[in-house]
Amino acid sequence: MRMYDLITKTRDGIELSREEIQFIISGYTAGSIPDYQMAAWCMAIYFKGLSPTATAALTMAMVESGETLTWPELDGVVVDKHSTGGVGDKTTLVLLPWVAATGCKIAKMSGRGLGHTGGTLDKLDAIDGFESALDRGRFIEQVQAIDLAVAGQTGALVPADQKLYALRDVTATVDSIPLIASSIMSKKIAAGAEGIVLDVKVGKGAFMQELPLAKQLAETMVDIGKHTQRQTSALITNMDQPLGHAVGNALEVKEAIQTLKGEGPEDLSNLCLALGAEMLLKARRVSSLEAGRKLLEDTMQTGQPLHKLKQMIAHQGGSPEVVDNPDLLPKAPVVRDVKAVQAAYVKEVNARSVGLIAMQLGAGRQTIDDTIDLTAGIEIFAKVGRQLQAGDIIARLHGQTEQDVDEAVMALKDAISWSPTPTAEPQLILGRISS
Ligand code: URA
Repeated sequence: MRMYDLITKTRDGIELSREEIQFIISGYTAGSIPDYQMAAWCMAIYFKGLSPTATAALTMAMVESGETLTWPELDGVVVDKHSTGGVGDKTTLVLLPWVAATGCKIAKMSGRGLGHTGGTLDKLDAIDGFESALDRGRFIEQVQAIDLAVAGQTGALVPADQKLYALRDVTATVDSIPLIASSIMSKKIAAGAEGIVLDVKVGKGAFMQELPLAKQLAETMVDIGKHTQRQTSALITNMDQPLGHAVGNALEVKEAIQTLKGEGPEDLSNLCLALGAEMLLKARRVSSLEAGRKLLEDTMQTGQPLHKLKQMIAHQGGSPEVVDNPDLLPKAPVVRDVKAVQAAYVKEVNARSVGLIAMQLGAGRQTIDDTIDLTAGIEIFAKVGRQLQAGDIIARLHGQTEQDVDEAVMALKDAISWSPTPTAEPQLILGRISS
């Protein structure tokens, strides 16, 4: 087999066999296929696409490029949840203890944020002492003891994706649906997920800006699930405005705790309920989504989800006191409120702009090696459809210096638009695709 011929076939829209795709991925991982040929192949995929069968073959070839995990020690179906990335998306922090409190076992691998989107591990770093680097033994032991653990993904999982993603990043081939779908699904499958729940974000703060594209991405991932015998479902959810109020690491942990106390923002609570019901269905803990929602609602009343969060923090070396007293979370030295000068309805809160402002304040990183300020960020109280009166707080900014916050206030003015007449509250869940 020659890589040259396989690039030509893909460029001409001729389907590759499983063996040919395996040859490409194993050759690239081993270094026998150079970056320039791989880049040409990715560009051919960008323009010509890949069939569902070829996309599934690519996913499995990536899974097989490294270590894979299985969880024979754990009873029941191992379910994972993945979000394609958004602004203020702290659903994992709420969902993990909530679903675990129903008796489901959750072994979650999470990542760090990049650019204007956040990552769960960065948020958890805001809890004093919390360790996310758990070895497999400790990870399993913790899931067996308390049904719940969250850890960073090891470098040995899907090495092909690590190399390929870096290459796509510099060759304008990131936004190809088969490449994104295989990248995401290969990591979930390699980490041992048997049931996969996907939150595919669409809108200004998301990777996919248009609903048809988000739908196509969701369908492609669910299809990979079908081809690889993983029960998969995807919700397509609105990311035009930030989710909840808080954007920034310590601020988001605080909001997640409030949500587990039943005092969280409505959109965040509703999304967690919908995703949690999907997880319970995939784990075969319930036989319908309605039963899943009911189980979650009943469990919330018992206070167990909050207790689970405390247990998880304590097992992973953190101070569980933050759950009872979120004021123990680190705080920024400069906190400033921005107030409405006149009554108006909120028309738009651009999630991408808000994410970038939070990043400028220090809450995010531009490159994977940047350090982040865990205290920095924004709380946005203006939500689309809401009417604010003169003097109401639009947003609260948290930063290191007065100058940083001055700049953020200026930028925030362009991120929000207003209407003198009522505006509609956006629909949060825009679609569901399931295998
Ligand atoms: N997230 C991933 O893991 N991979 C992609 O290609 C895009 C987003």
